[in-house]
Amino acid sequence: MSEEPAAQPHKRRPRYAGKNPRRFEDKYKERNPEQYPEVAAKVLAKGKTLAGTHRPIMVAEVLAALAPKPGDLAVDCTLGYGGHSREILAAIQPGGRLIGLDVDPIELPRTEERLRGLGFGPEVFTVKRSNFAGLAQVLTAEGLSGADMVLADLGISSMQLDDPSRGFSAKVEGPLDLRMNPQRGQPASALLVRMRVGELVTLLIENADEPHAEDLALAIAGREFATTGELAKAIRLVLPQRMSEEDRSLSVRRVFQALRVAVNDEFGALDTLLRHLPNCLNPGGRVAIMSFHSGEDRRVKKAFAAGHRDGLYSVIADEVIRASAEERHANTRSTSAKLRWAIRAA
Ligand SMILES: C[S@@+](CC[C@H](N)C(=O)[O-])C[C@H]1O[C@@H](n2cnc3c(N)ncnc32)[C@H](O)[C@@H]1O
Repeated sequence: MSEEPAAQPHKRRPRYAGKNPRRFEDKYKERNPEQYPEVAAKVLAKGKTLAGTHRPIMVAEVLAALAPKPGDLAVDCTLGYGGHSREILAAIQPGGRLIGLDVDPIELPRTEERLRGLGFGPEVFTVKRSNFAGLAQVLTAEGLSGADMVLADLGISSMQLDDPSRGFSAKVEGPLDLRMNPQRGQPASALLVRMRVGELVTLLIENADEPHAEDLALAIAGREFATTGELAKAIRLVLPQRMSEEDRSLSVRRVFQALRVAVNDEFGALDTLLRHLPNCLNPGGRVAIMSFHSGEDRRVKKAFAAGHRDGLYSVIADEVIRASAEERHANTRSTSAKLRWAIRAA
């Protein structure tokens, strides 16, 4: 017989300073919305996202673009919190199946558990830890010749952004990491140490259209920054005094974005996905891609236009679709989202 574990002394939760918790670890009420619905309602009413969750963006617009119907085979290339997948899964029943991909080994099992808990068993919902650059290989391994719809909601999730240990946000102190999969590649701190000024200028312009690229690169290239806070401080020191606080924060965000894009090879993965997409779709199959900055949107727009010209896509969205004013107000993270879609030629 095993011994009874010794009773653990009750530990008091450390008290946070001020009225509302600021640190991710202290936001236990937000992270348990079922237990604290009044706190969750207050956060949502401010247009914010509950810590540890992600609010899917333009759900109605995505569903209109993908036109899911019972029996369809769907691929969500960026499963995240599973917000879009959940809606698609409901729309393709009975008989439909969704394969959800994500590179994040930390959030993926949590999302799988959550969706299984909603009743989506392995016969309708398959989870793969994979980069979407490998979409064609994933389909082949599953014995599938193509999907009826493919969704990619690019970038990072709110869970990743808000968790200080992932080092994605300049607003919270954490290791300067920025990897979606911390088990692969190198953290942003290692990249920055290796970078020459010229390389960093190019990276800041190409990955984030940063107007102060040269001054910033001169100040931070080749230097060692262990934490998000150290880098954010160094960036702010270089920016001209006359800049507004809003513009300074934007520059900080752009530097973080540029490093994140590089560390995760986001453009490389997107280019590969766009190249293989037509072959991954069944005739008449649909793809919807949501992007969050110009470097991504340019690529999607160009690839869809080229596919249309070459007869691979029969129809493509002629205008980019943006979140409604209500959604932008209700969820500030939807402000920069741009949605494009295309239909595979029959
Ligand atoms: C914006 S979130 C998706 C949110 C999701 N649509 C939802 O409703 O919860 C983007 C997700 O895609 C993942 N991701 C980003 N690039 C990826 C890639 N190249 N391959 C696979 N997953 C990727 C990120 O780890 C993140 O979880």
